[in-house]
Amino acid sequence: MKVIRCKDYEDMSRKAANIISAQVILKPDSKLGLATGTTPIGAYQQLIKWYEKGDVDFAEVSAYNLDEYCGLSHDNVQSYHYFMRDNFFDHINIDLANTHIPNGENLDAEAACAEYDALVKEAGYVDLQLLGIGRNGHIGFNEPDDVFSKGTHQVDLTESTIEANSRLFDRAEDVPRQAYTMGVQTIMHAKMILVAATGSDKAQAVHDMILGPVTPKVPASILQLHTNCVVVADEEALALV
Ligand code: PGA
Repeated sequence: MKVIRCKDYEDMSRKAANIISAQVILKPDSKLGLATGTTPIGAYQQLIKWYEKGDVDFAEVSAYNLDEYCGLSHDNVQSYHYFMRDNFFDHINIDLANTHIPNGENLDAEAACAEYDALVKEAGYVDLQLLGIGRNGHIGFNEPDDVFSKGTHQVDLTESTIEANSRLFDRAEDVPRQAYTMGVQTIMHAKMILVAATGSDKAQAVHDMILGPVTPKVPASILQLHTNCVVVADEEALALV
């Protein structure tokens, strides 16, 4: 694991964007594994700016997102489909036909997950996977568990994740309780992994990811076994490392 210590959120966002941009410049038809959440928004904004300046071109890029809530329509403002268009895809020249997100509208979990797994596998897995990290050490929606997950699957979100998400919904009962997520094994197939972390509420999870034992109780800890994993994190998130 390579750890890049950043001054603050802005610095972290620019460095994450630099790494993603380098990937796309070196391989214009890169397959990018993308993430939602508040952490990557600054990196997406930076990439949009560089795209507008003509420094990076997404015409041949394809994207594979980590996860999606079950039961939200793609145009629901809280869905990850909406998030990705709103925060990134609608502002760059990526072909929307080349953007992929688990289909939360399909309530047949087995079919929805099998379809997404087949898609990612057929693509030969992603070149670079961007990840945030949950306060409980989750990656995607792979929550602490007794075993590491494999392919795309349906998860019941933990109370801690539901509570963290509830800030985004007007009413507690609207917060989704289930999601489809890429599994840990699929994430580990990425040729490179870029973890972005910011803020003191991530400090324990970042410590456990980097220095703790490799355990499914801290899903991100498995990234210690990846041969090309880079962590970009600000001072607050690295306070315990
Ligand atoms: P956040 O979420 O970026 O909104 O903190 C990260 C995650 O839960 O993976």
